[in-house]
Parts: sequence; C-alpha cells; structure tokens
Amino acid sequence: MSTSSSAFDYRGKTVFIAGGTSGINFGIAQGFARAGARLAVLSRSQDKVDAAVASLKELGGEVRGYAADVRDYEAVETALKAAAAELGLIDVLISGAAGNFPAPALGMSAKGFKTVIDIDLLGSFHVLRAGYALLNKPGAAVINISAPQAYNAMEFQMHVCAAKAGVDMLTRVAAIEWGAAGVRVNSVVPGPIANTEGMRRLAPTPETEALVRGSVPMGCFGEVEDIANCCLWLASPMARYVSGAVIPVDGGWSLGGTSITAGGMKQALLAP
Ligand code: NAP
Ligand code: COA
Repeated sequence: MSTSSSAFDYRGKTVFIAGGTSGINFGIAQGFARAGARLAVLSRSQDKVDAAVASLKELGGEVRGYAADVRDYEAVETALKAAAAELGLIDVLISGAAGNFPAPALGMSAKGFKTVIDIDLLGSFHVLRAGYALLNKPGAAVINISAPQAYNAMEFQMHVCAAKAGVDMLTRVAAIEWGAAGVRVNSVVPGPIANTEGMRRLAPTPETEALVRGSVPMGCFGEVEDIANCCLWLASPMARYVSGAVIPVDGGWSLGGTSITAGGMKQALLAP
C-alpha cells in the first residue's frame, strides 16, 4: 500500500514513464508513486533503472524497471508489454527520454543531429506507437515531455528545436486520431528546472545559471515537483477535456527569455 502524501489519488492506476530514471522524469515518477500509482520506468542504463526502482519502492507501491533504448522499437514494445502484463493496462503513458548537447549547426555532424532526432522524436513515436495498444481505454492519458526549443528558436540547439517541435506535432496528431477512443494526448513543456542534467548542459557555470534565472519572468528556476504536479493534474479526471495542448510550466520563460539564455550559453562556450 502506498504511503500516499498527494493531493491526487492514483491508487490502482498504472503509469509508464520512458526516461523515468533521472531528473524531471524521475521527479514525475516520484509524484505518481506518492499518489499511489503502480510505476514502470524505462531507460538505457541498467544501473540507473535499478537505482530508480529501489528509490521509488521506498515510496510504496509496485514498481518495475526496464533497461531499453527508445531508439529500438522492439525493445520499447517488449518493455511496454511486460509492464502491462505485470502491472495492468497503462492508464498514464509518459514519453520523456531525451538527449541534448550544445553545439552550433556547423559544429555537429549529421550523426550528431540524427542522434537527438532519433532519441527525442523517433523515440517518442516508438513509445506512443507501441504503447497505444496497451492503454487502458477509454480514459487513458498520454503526456510527451517537450521543451521550449519546440517553439523558441535557440542557437546551438538546432537538433533539439527540430526534435521537440516534432514531438509537439506527435501530441497534436495523436490527440486528433485517438480522441474518439477516449485517449487524451498532451505535451508538458518544462522551463529551466533546477538540478537537472538539461540545465547542467545548457547553463554549466554559475554565471550562465544566473543569466538564465534572470531571464525568467518569475526570477527563479523551477523544481522537478512543478513538472510532476502538472502531470498529476493533466492525467487526472480534473483535466478530462484537455487534449492536444502544449502546456508550458516555465515561470513565463517561453514568452521571450530563451534568447537571453542562449546568449548566456554562447558566452559560456566562447569563454577561454
Ligand atoms: P535527464 O536526467 O538526462 O533525463 C533523461 C532521461 O532519459 C534519463 O532517464 C535517461 O536515462 C533517459 N534516456 C536518455 N536517452 C535515452 C534513450 N536513448 N533511451 C531510453 N532512455 C533514454 O534530463 P532532464 O534534464 O531531467 O530532462 C528530462 C526531460 O525534460 C527531457 O525530455 C528534456 O528534453 C526535458 N526538458 C528538460 C529541461 C530542464 O531544465 N532540464 C527543460 C525543458 C525540457 P539513461 O541515461 O539511463 O538512458
Ligand atoms: N558537440 C557536437 N557533437 C556531439 C556532441 C557535442 N557536444 N556530443 C555528441 N556529439 C555527437 C557525437 O560526436 C556523435 O557524432 P559523430 O560520431 O559523427 O562524431 C553523435 O553526437 C552521437 O554521439 P554518441 O555519444 O555516440 O551518442 P549516444 O547515443 O551514446 O549519446 C547523447 C547520445 C550524445 C545525446 C548523449 O549526450 C546522451 O546520452 N544524453 C542523454 C542525457 C541528456 O542529454 N540529458 C539532457 C536531456 S535535456
């Protein structure tokens, strides 16, 4: 039985999170675990999977972990089928696996560009495509974890901008095609979130971190709990009429702060 300490009640529900073993996605997993859900997380590293499963189990409830690469359709499908068999059909499917590195367009090889497209965009297609058959329909919720790069062009981020714009289009098309089956599909767009790998890569110094913070209208970084709380609401009956939406959780950052962020990143990269 879960030691639930949540405003939401996900007892008896199965939640599958691709990329759920660290950072924002792990925070989302913790949020659903605290709300009593049965959890399944997937990522490449068996060590990260094992650590995430052990930590989530401490919150109570059933947890499964699968080591797989979202670029491998068969591996993703196998993990999803195993999760559905062991925990029950999937009520909440979250696609959040992603890769990022800052590099100018002329500083990345075709393989570097394709690597990010393959993880973020093709990987999300794999999760959605293989996951649909295993959703508990009607009533299931699908959430793609996007990024402000989807709609704010950002230097050194051509690969991520293209990939996440594509992810938001997966959201919109799936929302249209799957609405009649009672499946809602939405994107959640985190802004700069404290203590995450993404921010360590994009704002690697105290100076660039301060620049990013200063570019957020609310004047602070978000916490992983902010993203988890949005997902808890979005997957709940409280959001039963929300589908095809792209929802920023970013303190207003996407209204214009990202160019300042990129400037900070550029300064960091050009620094001796
Ligand atoms: P993170 O900790 O590096 O999370 C990425 C997760 O995806 C990890 O669990 C990683 O585990 C997994 N992963 C990476 N490549 C994979 C692959 N090929 N197959 C399967 N799993 C894979 O990074 P984060 O900063 O928290 O970012 C999480 C999500 O939030 C991403 O979708 C990112 O685009 C989005 N986001 C983050 C921020 C931010 O401020 N950090 C802002 C906007 C959007 P393994 O290494 O074990 O595979
Ligand atoms: N600048 C330019 N190109 C880079 C790069 C950088 N900083 N980092 C990686 N690349 C290129 C590599 O050079 C390679 O291309 P090449 O063989 O033509 O040189 C290509 O990207 C693939 O790199 P590789 O390390 O083989 O990929 P991978 O599949 O093992 O790892 C990454 C994928 C590169 C995205 C890796 O950073 C990763 O696993 N990230 C996951 C965590 C993460 O990014 N978290 C933040 C999420 S927002």
